[in-house]
Amino acid sequence: MCGIVGYIGDREAEEILVKGLERLEYRGYDSAGVAVVEAGGAAPEGAAGNGAVGDGQAKGGAAAIPSGRLAVRKKKGKVGQLREALGGTNGPRGGGLRGSVGIGHTRWATHGAPSDVNAHPHTPPDGRFALVHNGIIENYAALKERLQEKGREFESSTDTEVLVHLIDDVQQATGLPLEEAVRQALTQTVGAYGIVVASAENPDFLIAARNGSPLILGVGDDGEHFIGSDAAPLIEHTRQVVYLEDGEMAVVRRDGYDVKTIEGADLEKEIHELEWDLEEIEKGGYEHFMLKEIMEQPTALEDCMRGRINPDKGQVLLGGLTEVMDRLGSADRVILVACGTSWHAALVGEYLIESLAKVPVEVEYASEFRYREPILREGDVVIAISQSGETADTLAAVREAQERGALALGVCNVVGSTIARETDAGVYLHAGPEIGVASTKAFTCQVCVLAMIALAMAEGRTLADDQMQAHLDALAGVPDKVRTELKRDEEVADLAKVYRYAANFLYLGRGYNFPVALEGALKLKEISYIHAEGYPAAEMKHGPIALIDRFMPVVFIAMKDSTYDKVVSNIEEVAARDGAVIAITNADNHELDDLCEYVMRVPETMEYLSPLLTVVPLQLMSYHMAVMRGCDVDQPRNLAKSVTVE
Ligand code: AGP
Ligand code: GLU
Repeated sequence: MCGIVGYIGDREAEEILVKGLERLEYRGYDSAGVAVVEAGGAAPEGAAGNGAVGDGQAKGGAAAIPSGRLAVRKKKGKVGQLREALGGTNGPRGGGLRGSVGIGHTRWATHGAPSDVNAHPHTPPDGRFALVHNGIIENYAALKERLQEKGREFESSTDTEVLVHLIDDVQQATGLPLEEAVRQALTQTVGAYGIVVASAENPDFLIAARNGSPLILGVGDDGEHFIGSDAAPLIEHTRQVVYLEDGEMAVVRRDGYDVKTIEGADLEKEIHELEWDLEEIEKGGYEHFMLKEIMEQPTALEDCMRGRINPDKGQVLLGGLTEVMDRLGSADRVILVACGTSWHAALVGEYLIESLAKVPVEVEYASEFRYREPILREGDVVIAISQSGETADTLAAVREAQERGALALGVCNVVGSTIARETDAGVYLHAGPEIGVASTKAFTCQVCVLAMIALAMAEGRTLADDQMQAHLDALAGVPDKVRTELKRDEEVADLAKVYRYAANFLYLGRGYNFPVALEGALKLKEISYIHAEGYPAAEMKHGPIALIDRFMPVVFIAMKDSTYDKVVSNIEEVAARDGAVIAITNADNHELDDLCEYVMRVPETMEYLSPLLTVVPLQLMSYHMAVMRGCDVDQPRNLAKSVTVE
């Protein structure tokens, strides 16, 4: 679920691997490790061997392995700790591991607590090969029992070590080459994996295989190849990539690579060009990626709309949907599936599509949709929304929809991601890489794309030309309005200072801003660890009001729209019970000043576009509170950027 990096070439692998892991840190993880194939014979001082770092050494010795030895280093904690433990890079300072083939991993524990022993890479007892794994081997318990009956002992509590023993067992029993043993072992597993294997016996290859957890092969110049669980560790080395699909396996050498299906059939793979730049995945002077990404929203929204809307002509052109537009426009029902923040964007999408295009919409948690035996009819269109394009539940929902004959569309940010490739058609966000675990610019761009989809569906059907023009003018004006409100960052930081010690928050909103209330609460809890709940404002009276006292800040999104008066009544009810009200309202609205402790002001826009503006101060507020509380904003505890396990 977390990060994988692999390198084979002529340069020292260690620094490339560790740097690659640093690029993958954003995904959230709890431990990190590398294995480098060192040349045979005596290892350089301080490199391979037992006892140097943690308790996770390769168990083999040089004597048993003629062509090389695998030096494994792994540590619970941050990549920085691993780097420190490695004792310096292979530069002028010396130290570290020497070899030009290796693999690295950041682990997000699923089976077994974060620890040195459970960290990857894992090796068989003789240290003949090393393996890193993202995902879950679901039948690990049965496999482990079988292997234990054969006398095998396990050091870690991971499902990954079971796979390692299984490969070892197959190879011992059959004498097959390692790649064949890996292939056969994988056919016995159930679950999700992205794996890379390095061999001490054959230092001229890496084996990579994928099923449900992404892997990309980077094709470099001068006999270099890279492997990454996403593009971040590859970008600085190459832009030429090959996406492995589920059920595929690659043998990667210095001079080339072969891709096969797990069943053994040869495949020809297309080389794709990566779109993202190195600068985009760096912090560019900001203290955190999250802040950078919040601040990038005006340009991200402009990029998202570029070439797609033409207010003068009253037209929306979504190139990725051209072929399916008739079917989408005449859909009987649209079902939006997503998880987390993307699910909140989907809720805004429901309001947008129903009110603009007048097509009924249902919003489903992808994880529920996939197991609910959903009833899909001809005429239904399923739209999966996912920043990463790799979320396991959302991908499974797409497959479920396709199996049931529905048209499945994707709204993704990561170009070439699995959902983007597997859906029948779709729209990219063009928001640029989102590195902070807490999604910000992806949310606003998702809402923007959903607004464009709703308008495209409405064009010539439910909206007259002049209405379309007015809507598109308003949409085109949003980035500048976001720019204006971002200038109030310091005011939001002042507010955050006041409430940073609160233990609980309530977020309330109605209509288009009900999903924003949910999103505000999610942002706060995921990065500042403050408990927060979002509700439709009117639901407050049906339970949450019992919680209100003077220690409970309540954030109201109270824009001057069709539900404003009702929301003001709810504010009165909270104020009457001593609750501390923070309101988000229109820039020129002063009616709430006396009723609320704080008022955050956002520029005016059309009602249906207001989530694009109201969410911004909530993102900033969460960010500042998390920083003030000393939280790790970009890599919040227990969270991963893309959730590729169920
Ligand atoms: C958002 O801040 C989250 N970390 C999380 O809820 C995320 O939105 C969710 O996991 C879905 O991810 P996706 O958009 O990549 O599918
Ligand atoms: N299931 C494996 C483990 O717990 C891999 C976790 C991951 O994807 O990082 O070690």
